[in-house]
Amino acid sequence: MQASAEAQPNIALVKYWGKRDRERNLPAVGSLSITLASLRTRMTVRFSDQPTDTLIVNGQEAPAMLGRVSRCLDLVAGRNRQRAAVTSDGNFPIGAGLASSASAFAALVVAADEAVHTGHDRLTLARMAGTASGSAARSLYGGFVELTAGDGGIGLTPLAAPADWPLEVVVAITEEGPKPVGSGDGMIRSAQTSPFYASWVERQEADLVVARTAVSNRDFASLAAVSEHNCLKMHSVMWTSRPPVVYWNEATIGCLEAIRLLQAKGVPVFFTIDAGPQVKAVCTADAVAGVRGALDATPGVLRTLVSGLGEGARLVPS
Ligand code: DP6
Repeated sequence: MQASAEAQPNIALVKYWGKRDRERNLPAVGSLSITLASLRTRMTVRFSDQPTDTLIVNGQEAPAMLGRVSRCLDLVAGRNRQRAAVTSDGNFPIGAGLASSASAFAALVVAADEAVHTGHDRLTLARMAGTASGSAARSLYGGFVELTAGDGGIGLTPLAAPADWPLEVVVAITEEGPKPVGSGDGMIRSAQTSPFYASWVERQEADLVVARTAVSNRDFASLAAVSEHNCLKMHSVMWTSRPPVVYWNEATIGCLEAIRLLQAKGVPVFFTIDAGPQVKAVCTADAVAGVRGALDATPGVLRTLVSGLGEGARLVPS
């Protein structure tokens, strides 16, 4: 009745922002992401006769997350399941726009499924993870992943494996610590108050077509252009929400400037930013050293992390 799984966060290049169904946590828009390799969350689930579920994250009790974890376990193992002791260990900061919930829930469903031998297929597990956190569904798969949104539920398509197009991501950490507004709450606020929200949703399919084609043709310039545009559109929706949802700081803007300078010199790199102040620079392998050097030298950057692309969530020995 015990199993462990590991998963990595994913970074959306065409973003998910908005919910079509809050109850089922169904996204309003499709998205396209890359799964990382070197930032990892390991989840261990042990079902037993203990009276309540428990959750330890990086060695400390985490009551705030426990409700979501319990509801996710109900989906995988059924509501009549035994209670579970869940432990989570990660090698990167939580709640700071590095998609820690994506890797956590992806690993959780895989570990829980194994622990109770339910044998759900991958799409079913991805849908269960997505109910807990929309972006988590994508971390069930490796490399380039497209998530399609629909009233009947999400679909997932792996578009290319990590080895097919081995891009790298340099993450510039500009602030550690939890974000001011959770992404779920921010999305709801945007849908209710941003005058740009409707056109954000309406135009998403066009961006997905461009990004999907760019991945299939390994067309870096086209993927760069659509990813930056989509990221800035999402943040425009956030900024025009009431009250505004602003995740950037001065160093975030400094990083964008540094990336612009690299691009002007012909370096193959582009940026994306999620619900946090960190900047993710996506580049080719030969550009990593220069990109990292430029971001490390940007005022306000605390440190940088580098990751290639990796596989989807998988079981590991307990
Ligand atoms: C900006 O998956 O964290 O990173 O479904 O409410 O848990 P919930 O939201 P979450 O949102 C991710 C938002 C994003 C964009 C993305 O990853 O696509």
